[in-house]
Amino acid sequence: MIKVITYGTFDLFHQGHYRLLQRAKALGDYLIVGVTTEAYDATRGKFNVIDDLMTRIENVRKTGFADEIIIEESAGQKFSDIKKYNIDIFTVGSDWTGGFDYLKDYCEVVYLERTKNISSTMLRETNRPIQRIGIIGTGRIAARFIPEARQVSGVSAQGVYNPHTESAVRFAKRWDIEAYTNLEEFFSNIDVVYIASPHQTHYEYIKASLEHGKHVLCEKPMVLRKSQAEEVLQYAKEHDLILLEEIKTAYCPGFQKLLGIACSGSIGSIRNVEACFTKLEKADSRELTDPVYGGSFTELGSYVLLPILKIFGTEYQEIRFDTIRGENGLDLFTKASLVYPTGIATATCGLGVKSDGRLLIAGTKGYIIAEAPWWKTTYFEVHYEEANRVDRYSEIFLGDGLRYEISNFLYMINKSNKDNFKLTRGESAAMAGIMERFMEEERAGRRRETAARAGTD
Ligand code: CTP
Repeated sequence: MIKVITYGTFDLFHQGHYRLLQRAKALGDYLIVGVTTEAYDATRGKFNVIDDLMTRIENVRKTGFADEIIIEESAGQKFSDIKKYNIDIFTVGSDWTGGFDYLKDYCEVVYLERTKNISSTMLRETNRPIQRIGIIGTGRIAARFIPEARQVSGVSAQGVYNPHTESAVRFAKRWDIEAYTNLEEFFSNIDVVYIASPHQTHYEYIKASLEHGKHVLCEKPMVLRKSQAEEVLQYAKEHDLILLEEIKTAYCPGFQKLLGIACSGSIGSIRNVEACFTKLEKADSRELTDPVYGGSFTELGSYVLLPILKIFGTEYQEIRFDTIRGENGLDLFTKASLVYPTGIATATCGLGVKSDGRLLIAGTKGYIIAEAPWWKTTYFEVHYEEANRVDRYSEIFLGDGLRYEISNFLYMINKSNKDNFKLTRGESAAMAGIMERFMEEERAGRRRETAARAGTD
């Protein structure tokens, strides 16, 4: 018996797939088809797969050519499958010619002529036109966004808006996109908006974008007042638009896995979450000099609050802030302590004090620990009472990680389910509420410090 194996995503099943499977089957007596998982496709930079795994398997099964269907989960799997299933022929389409010659030592490798003028990519683009992204802001973060967006098919960075002509033109030239200094013109040339302007401008830009019927992905902190967050989130919901806050950790696969394990019951009931993120900044940096919006908590607070709100929810009973301020009054290091009915949590961040940036989630049966940079989660451990029992988990994190939220944003735009938030509206609103309270207390604290200093002078 001649055994043949082939692999593919088989998204939006089409004639090219059918013909490939038909010819693969004809090469032998028994055909095994490997269908890729969403997670594996993501590691290959294929973020835009539309059909879920079950649908893709069902479509392959319906052709009647596959004698066996398996799942392809990782890059090295082809090699081990060939041995495991005693394969005689490995085959794929001619778009891969040469790509699998390394398997020739183990079986015959056949590249079948690819069917012309059809591909899943083509179908995705026809069914769902490319979303042209317009970027508001031209700073460091906006610059990091473009190479990431280029990794996600289904979107293209179209243009950038900045009211200052020189900044807009310089940025546009660097990334080979259009420059806009007029908001109306900007909105009429793009489909969706990414906001990466200074914090205090987010609210107005979000409103303007939504009013122009655009979906919005906005840098953290989305806004700094709870009422503003609720207003724009409600407006988006009522107008069937997506408004998503950009906190890359929330969308990355490792953090998703960590949350899944934390909530699976394997460490029992969760009683304590401690999240810390510090990053030393130069004294003259914007983060440490902007008198109103600078400081460590507005900069990094979103990251450290995220696991707490995800695990314990948004209904905390008490919150308190302890802060170390620099000479200009801005917070260099802040610890927010939250009390919930069933647990306690601390969110610590610093721009002028260095600490051990880690995430610790403690439960009644064990604890999860993720070391820095846990906010780009690639590895974590689960520990139990028995000291030698440790479960270890790793996960991929590609590039700067923004590609995960961009593809999630796109997924939400394309799918009819616009409520599939990896970061919910309630969580974004709660973050804004915490930021607002922190800023109020900070202002009062600074006033007290200044008065005390004046008193001693
Ligand atoms: N295939 C083919 N002819 C086509 C399209 C795909 O023979 N017109 C083959 C591929 O070469 C591969 C298999 O079908 O062996 C599964 O390919 P897959 O990557 O799932 O399909 P594509 O349409 O190429 O998907 P995409 O556009 O997302 O890359």
